[in-house]
Amino acid sequence: MESLFSAMIVLLLVSFSCFTSSEALTSNNGNITIKWDFMSWTPDGYVAVVTAYNYQKQRSIGSPGWKMSWRWTRKEIANCCKGGVLKPGLESAFQIAVGNAGDSVKTVRMPVNFMFTAPKQQYLCGPTKNVRPTRFITADKRRMTRALMTWNITCVFHKAT
Ligand SMILES: *[C@@H]1O[C@H](CO)[C@@H](O)[C@H](O)[C@H]1NC(C)=O
Ligand SMILES: *[C@@H]1O[C@H](CO)[C@@H](O)[C@H](O)[C@H]1NC(C)=O
Repeated sequence: MESLFSAMIVLLLVSFSCFTSSEALTSNNGNITIKWDFMSWTPDGYVAVVTAYNYQKQRSIGSPGWKMSWRWTRKEIANCCKGGVLKPGLESAFQIAVGNAGDSVKTVRMPVNFMFTAPKQQYLCGPTKNVRPTRFITADKRRMTRALMTWNITCVFHKAT
């Protein structure tokens, strides 16, 4: 009886922490969404455009700007970082080339432990999700193209630091 009781407590605690962690990733104050669009495959990896969108109504990310980092699960490039300033409602993008990364939708691995930081602000990021590939309009505006694959990561403001 007693062990059943402690098992129930453990279960309760586990579901409570799952609840709080998913709860933490939806916020009335908006979020930062990082989108990872695979544009082309290279002999040992890929070229991707990484875009950060500031969907926060009020919070602006000032100079020297945001930084993002992640951990690879294999032997891809060093954990890269990149930054910029990001006003509410705006977006900022950069292109990266990743080597040693697998060369197809099937072999490539998602980076993990995403961290998004900004001056005096700490964010919590959710898991990387494989989503419907972004559609782009070509420069001549005549055709639609599609990313080969798209990953989204959502981060929310956690606390001031
Ligand atoms: C992030 O914010 C955008 C814009 O408000 C919203 O459409 C999207 O659903 C949010 N994402 C999550 C995971 O809450
Ligand atoms: C991924 O993020 C982009 C940029 O915020 C958004 O336009 C798109 O709808 C998101 N996709 C999904 C499936 O949430």
